[in-house]
Amino acid sequence: MFARNIVVVGTGYVGLTTGACLASLGHRVLCADIDTAKVEMLRAGDVRISEPGLAELVAEGMAAGRLSFVVGAATALREREPAEVVFLCVPTPMGAGGVADLSAVEAVVEETRDLIPPGCVVVNKSTVPVGTADRTAELLDREDVAVVSNPEFLREGSAVRDFLNPDRIVVGSNSSPDAAERVAALYARLGAPTVLTDAASAEMIKYAANCFLAMKLSYVNALAELCERLDADVADVTEGIGFDKRIGQSFLVPGPGWGGSCLPKDVHALLQVADAADFEFRLLRATIDTNTRQFQRMVEKIRTAVTGRRGGSLTRRRLALFGLTFKAGTDDLRASPALEVAALLKQAGAELVGYDPGLATGGSAPVDPALLTVVDDPYVAAKDADAVVVLTEWPQFRGLDWTRLADAVARPTLVDTRNLLDPAVVRRAGFSWVGVGRAA
Ligand code: UGA
Repeated sequence: MFARNIVVVGTGYVGLTTGACLASLGHRVLCADIDTAKVEMLRAGDVRISEPGLAELVAEGMAAGRLSFVVGAATALREREPAEVVFLCVPTPMGAGGVADLSAVEAVVEETRDLIPPGCVVVNKSTVPVGTADRTAELLDREDVAVVSNPEFLREGSAVRDFLNPDRIVVGSNSSPDAAERVAALYARLGAPTVLTDAASAEMIKYAANCFLAMKLSYVNALAELCERLDADVADVTEGIGFDKRIGQSFLVPGPGWGGSCLPKDVHALLQVADAADFEFRLLRATIDTNTRQFQRMVEKIRTAVTGRRGGSLTRRRLALFGLTFKAGTDDLRASPALEVAALLKQAGAELVGYDPGLATGGSAPVDPALLTVVDDPYVAAKDADAVVVLTEWPQFRGLDWTRLADAVARPTLVDTRNLLDPAVVRRAGFSWVGVGRAA
């Protein structure tokens, strides 16, 4: 294998994981970020992204002299002699009207245009609307530099494992199949199936995958509601359908709705892409609407459990929310379904106290104190509560002393929006139990 000289621009989840993992595959990687404080911390081996194995991989790469950090993409290109591949791993947040905001990508291209060495390949790893590779090439305006799209499919909480054990590698290029092959070769050691295609298709694959996952979840959440009405058990239904290899067992657990920094952003972005192409993507619209409705449905479920009747008042009812992050195994609160449900509960007049094992380390942005108070002890959170509501599927919740929690609350009512806990266990501890898609 050829070890390549690589510059990675952006040291967020995707950038830092890409840099550290490519260094672990033997490449020489220089990571650039505009945030001076972040770069200084990384140089000191201080990794603030809580991802299993990432800090270790960064330390290994630095010790081996294959991974280093600088401030600014321009500095990276001046320092690296000469970069053969430049990865763009900068954020593409949801901008006005759901359209992806590409200003970070454009700023890097502006800054580095004249510094990129001839023959270098610019790789877009950020999730971007179809057509961005072409737009980047236009902006770059360099015939001697190829632009390829190489979307990333890692999940938060298992970023390193996903990067090093990918289901597939996708590389798309319009102008230079040779450049695409060079990029695919960076991952050769991983032995993953590789899809070489045009840039638009590569960009589309990323959106299509995330939107399919979102659709799967909206489908399962809708099925759960129907199961409740028909006295069927959604866990058995999903197990039953999941044995069909065309469906598969994964991504079929109902919950309070889906969220995070990727799925909602990408679903809205693809809808915008479709609108712009004059295509009414009704299935995607329904996927979003089903999710919005799911948050509201959770509130109604909690309302009924707490007051004993549909439409009862939650005013001044005290609720202990267990789990605030968008999923277990992360400290990320961005577009968290738990916070969406919390906001609706607050609007309905409830008083909220939250507990989340992922926030104990204080790595993430804080929760708005006007929305809820966060405490670092589940038994304190539960004190005098009218109900405990599980919103994130932290396995640690299973190991709590549910008898002690039943003693702490004002009313032993449990609403488990993730079907995480064994109803028999919590009932034995004295709680009444309500789940999702299963008879109470
Ligand atoms: C998602 C995709 O899964 C990755 O493949 C993709 O690379 C990434 O977005 C990205 O575009 O960067 P991530 O945002 O880390 O990864 O989160 P997921 O694990 O997909 O979870 C998304 C949401 O679905 C969470 O709120 C989670 O709790 C929910 N979920 C997931 C369920 O409610 N049930 C499930 O069975 C699975």
